[in-house]
Amino acid sequence: MTLRFKKLHPTFMAEVSPVDLRTVHDEPTLAALRAAMTEFGVLVFHDQHFSYDDQIEFAQRMDGALHSKTSSSVLSKNRFGNEALTDISNVGQDGNILEAADRRRMNGISNRIWHTDASFEDPSGRYSMLYARNIPPVRADTEFADMRAAYEALDTDTKKAIEDLHVYHSIVYSRHTMGFDFSAEESAKLPGATHPLVRQIEGSNRKALYLASHAAHVTEWPVPEGRLLLKDLIEHATRREFLNSHEWSLGDLVIWDNRTTMHRARPFDDKAYKRELTRVTTLDLPRATSQP
Ligand code: OGA
Ligand code: MN
Repeated sequence: MTLRFKKLHPTFMAEVSPVDLRTVHDEPTLAALRAAMTEFGVLVFHDQHFSYDDQIEFAQRMDGALHSKTSSSVLSKNRFGNEALTDISNVGQDGNILEAADRRRMNGISNRIWHTDASFEDPSGRYSMLYARNIPPVRADTEFADMRAAYEALDTDTKKAIEDLHVYHSIVYSRHTMGFDFSAEESAKLPGATHPLVRQIEGSNRKALYLASHAAHVTEWPVPEGRLLLKDLIEHATRREFLNSHEWSLGDLVIWDNRTTMHRARPFDDKAYKRELTRVTTLDLPRATSQP
């Protein structure tokens, strides 16, 4: 299958020519999609028709094992009965819009701060695949930051100073900064994880900043000094020129590489309109060398 890619921004993101991903099973096409992910960081597919199982099965074909230790999984049972299918919505079990103070809503609202998915886990999230099942009549975009372009724009001294640093990521920390606290029992299920600050992914000779609101401190540095560095780097990486927004249409699937991009949800009137998407995130594990 020949795929065409249309660039959506000067440095990253591309729209893929019409393809029904339910029908993509052949290894050459899947390999071409992985190579495009390495090149563009974010791919946009329109007009998909995914059941829950279709979405899960495509994610497994594309990238292997799935992440299921999400922050929402410690709060309440997933409405689809599968923790690998993350409920990115403002509706509850009964299908109604969540109350303002609902803990699931409070937790979900933190998607509006810059982050990468599952950076607080080890292995962390590699690809996230977000599918629009019900979208509001108002803009409710997802915004992306190109973390390779941001790295490359740093001056040489900064690059040298941060090259070998590691960062402790914790969702308990980032939610606390937002005024949301997990209980001691919930927190115990979310211990956090340490990852390099600068990453180079296989198949690419470019480096990326690996940051998120979950980034709590630099393990080699005193906490306040590291926190200041992380704050400065996120500010740098979210300058206008490194950003691009996706405006959702029903049936869109957007796949992003959490190793080379950050993202955030843009605010909308979530007390008036329903917005329902499902996300599957793969684990950043080595890929099998031989594919079936
Ligand atoms: C996510 C996420 C943003 C949005 O699904 O991981 O951060 O716009 N979503 O819903
Ligand atoms: Mn996210």
